[in-house]
Amino acid sequence: MTEKVAIASDHAGLPLKTVLKEMRSDIEWIDLGTHTPDSVDYPDYASALADCIGKGEAKRGVLICGTGIGISMAANRHKHIRAGVCHDVTTARLTRLDNDANVMCIGARIIGLNVALDCLEAFLKTDFAGDQPDGERHKNRVGKFS
Ligand code: RB5
Repeated sequence: MTEKVAIASDHAGLPLKTVLKEMRSDIEWIDLGTHTPDSVDYPDYASALADCIGKGEAKRGVLICGTGIGISMAANRHKHIRAGVCHDVTTARLTRLDNDANVMCIGARIIGLNVALDCLEAFLKTDFAGDQPDGERHKNRVGKFS
């Protein structure tokens, strides 16, 4: 895998972020923190990742907090971010296919490592249905976000 993928978490997501990166060392990660177990505010990490994607340093990103919910809410405040909370292969696949999500959010207190790895694989390998010849409706729907 040569594509750069941005990743960030709060303290609750740090252990899962660390192991995910180790298990998928084939990916060129841009790790935006947090790097210590000290309590931090997840919106700061959502913003750092949104900025990274906004600057074109990575096309896609992974955000991890306790539930995946707070960090997705914060990420979606940024107009260029489409962040989906994923908790299994199906949600990870469909948030790419239907929503053209550029950020996958996962909850370290919700899913385990193997499910997270499966989500990551599905998220990275699934293309947006809107880019297929019969996918105009998906493009229209995602276009209505803004
Ligand atoms: C941190 O304790 C926790 O609130 C945060 O990681 C997240 O789950 C919020 O949505």
